[in-house]
Amino acid sequence: MSDANIGKQAAGEVAAKLVHDGMIVGIGTGSTVAFFIEALGRRVQTEGLKIRGIPTSEATVAHALRWGIPLVPLTPQTRPDLTIDGADEANPKLDLIKGAGGALLREKLVAAASGELVVIADASKRVAHLGAFPLPIAIVPFATQNLVSQLKEEFEVTPHLRLLANGEPFISDDGLYILDLPFGIIQRPAILDKRLKIMPGVVETGIFIGLAKRMLLGHPDGRVEAVYPVE
Ligand code: 5RP
Repeated sequence: MSDANIGKQAAGEVAAKLVHDGMIVGIGTGSTVAFFIEALGRRVQTEGLKIRGIPTSEATVAHALRWGIPLVPLTPQTRPDLTIDGADEANPKLDLIKGAGGALLREKLVAAASGELVVIADASKRVAHLGAFPLPIAIVPFATQNLVSQLKEEFEVTPHLRLLANGEPFISDDGLYILDLPFGIIQRPAILDKRLKIMPGVVETGIFIGLAKRMLLGHPDGRVEAVYPVE
């Protein structure tokens, strides 16, 4: 197993221990979350843990059901007590870039409704500044050409429309396209988030500000470090 996967698995397994009987759990998307789902599914099957999950993507629906985790939709009556999700980058404040899996819209909806968001990640995801990872934004397909041109003009960034292996645009679970924006260092992520969100056609950005209060960082030796936001 690669160093990254050792860290991902270790973090996913520690996160599964945070779940208690009766909880509603937001379940993120990605390879680290897949390890969490497997560890949680084992607890459901062996300990009879009674929980309900709120999935953030169709991929997570399929994986959670495969592991015997009952699912419910996100409603005012079923808000997650705790959400476990991955990240592409986390800075010392635990501001995040998310969205490599294209699930950033549902991930933000679930995280924002959740009592607590705990990020699980391998050690490579901790960064001093966000932005080396291209920022994903979810956009309305109809707006693509105009947004690409506006983003170039306003931010001097070259947006990349996310494509599938066959060259067709990637389409999110909500029918949106993803533009990946290679900003380099993002000095003020909260301001950038606001500036992007007011552009007509931008539905959501992969910048998550102030939502994560804890990160479980898995190291290549299998150690899991709890990281808290530094103000
Ligand atoms: C999906 C995400 C993922 O949480 C993020 O990309 C991390 O993925 P992985 O655990 O596979 O490294 O934001 O939209």
